Amino acid sequence: MKWKNQLTGMKPYQPGRSIDEVKKMYGLDHIVKLASNENPFGTSPKVSEFLENQATNHAIYPDGYASSLRQALAEALGVEEQQLLFGNGSDEIIMMISRALLQPGVNTVMAIPTFPQYRHNAVIEGAEVREVNLKDGAHDLDEMTRQIDENTAVVWLCSPNNPTGMLIGQQKLEQFVQKISEDVLIVIDEAYFEYITDPTYKNSLELVKKHSNVIVLRTFSKAYGLAGFRVGYAVAQKELIARLDPVREPFNNTVISQGAALTALHDSSFIEKCVIENESGKKQFQEYATKHNLHLYPSQGNFLLLQVKADSDTVFEGLLKKGFIIRSGNALGTPGYIRITIGTRQQNEVFLQSLTEVLTELEVLA
Ligand SMILES: Cc1ncc(COP(=O)(O)O)c(C=O)c1O
Repeated sequence: MKWKNQLTGMKPYQPGRSIDEVKKMYGLDHIVKLASNENPFGTSPKVSEFLENQATNHAIYPDGYASSLRQALAEALGVEEQQLLFGNGSDEIIMMISRALLQPGVNTVMAIPTFPQYRHNAVIEGAEVREVNLKDGAHDLDEMTRQIDENTAVVWLCSPNNPTGMLIGQQKLEQFVQKISEDVLIVIDEAYFEYITDPTYKNSLELVKKHSNVIVLRTFSKAYGLAGFRVGYAVAQKELIARLDPVREPFNNTVISQGAALTALHDSSFIEKCVIENESGKKQFQEYATKHNLHLYPSQGNFLLLQVKADSDTVFEGLLKKGFIIRSGNALGTPGYIRITIGTRQQNEVFLQSLTEVLTELEVLA
């Protein structure tokens, strides 16, 4: 068959190990998954109520325009409805952007390490991928600017960056956007937006107002706790959204996922509570890192990249045996580190005890 050349040797996305898999492997009853930056508090109780009272007619297609969700979200964000594009998770929006703009002969610029789906989709579309090393865990915007040329179609910025959690400083971001030619799409992926507490952060939707080539991606998967429902969205000027929309498949958000996202959107007190818990969880890790002299990136997300001064895979396996699924830095391009989703206070406490046991056994703990 006539496969695209670029598919040769490509591997599908490798999800982390599932809870059931780890239970079986190690004969454990209880597993805590702190690997995929999901919300440890689940979702708003209002969503559970909504789901219990669902009497959906399953034979009918969903509203392909997600009208109710669109209206409520546009109002919440202070944008026009035509400025929104919904995806089956922001993953699908990354795919739509790539499908619409990337092809052989163009290039795309991104950080490394960063969220791997930018690269994955760019490779499928046959574009040249230009990766720029992070500088102290943050995007090196000067070098990214140098990498952009007349053949650059898309620049990907991930803020807070997965896996380091570092935010792109507001001033630097504004200067960067101003320097970039208007025919280059600048994607600002803010999957962890709701968790940002840095007081210097300014709403990036201001950049959307001023620049026709900026698109901001957000999701209901993280703070809203709806990863299982797959609802992400993009905000840009309406002309840009209109160009992207034909790439979207017609019914890409289900009836129930639209309702769940709409319900979650209305419960801002749930988000506020989660952000407070996330901050206090972050402190537990910060104290631990300071006590044991381990480097910890200053994260603005709901996850942390922590130095372990040992082989990350060995630490990962040790933690797995104790019932914790996290991500090894070896898989993320950050050897010597592990990435942990911040859990509940109690999960963090037990996790840090287990980490102490693993690192003590490896004789690396200060
Ligand atoms: C930076 C970043 N962008 C996008 C996504 C995808 O999220 P979604 O569940 O909305 O597809 C993730 C998920 O981990 C992420 O970390």
